[in-house]
Amino acid sequence: MPKPIYVLSGPNLNLLGTREPEIYGHQTLEDVRKLCEARAAALGREIVFRQSNHEGELIDWIQEAREKACALVINPAGYGHTSVAILDALKAVGVPVVECHLSNPAARETFRRKTFVSLAATGVVSGFGPASYELAVEAAAGLAR
Ligand code: DQA
Repeated sequence: MPKPIYVLSGPNLNLLGTREPEIYGHQTLEDVRKLCEARAAALGREIVFRQSNHEGELIDWIQEAREKACALVINPAGYGHTSVAILDALKAVGVPVVECHLSNPAARETFRRKTFVSLAATGVVSGFGPASYELAVEAAAGLAR
């Protein structure tokens, strides 16, 4: 069995569906998980789908992905704009990284225009709502080792 694609989501994304729905929409993170699973299955892949509000837990999962994943999709949420530690973990992960965002951070406040994660990502998918995750899973499957 090929290794799974890890799909990690950062802080506040557990509130998807009720959190600023005018920006992030009405679909829940569970809805997003189902979309990712279906897209991965259509490509003959499995996913490991996790969310955490804690930087260290995300870093532990990125380190786990070094051995257990074939590729990594990450929506780092607010940590993307702040966390050198997550960037360092991603630089050491050794599998392809695809960054994704539901919104288009480049079209929002100036502090969202830069993410540290982008420095370690092969590419970024943003602005398509839950479809950003599906597209990112597809890209990760194409890059997977
Ligand atoms: C986000 C964009 C980030 O700027 C923000 O902090 C989030 C969500 C997105 O998916 O659009 O929490 O990553």
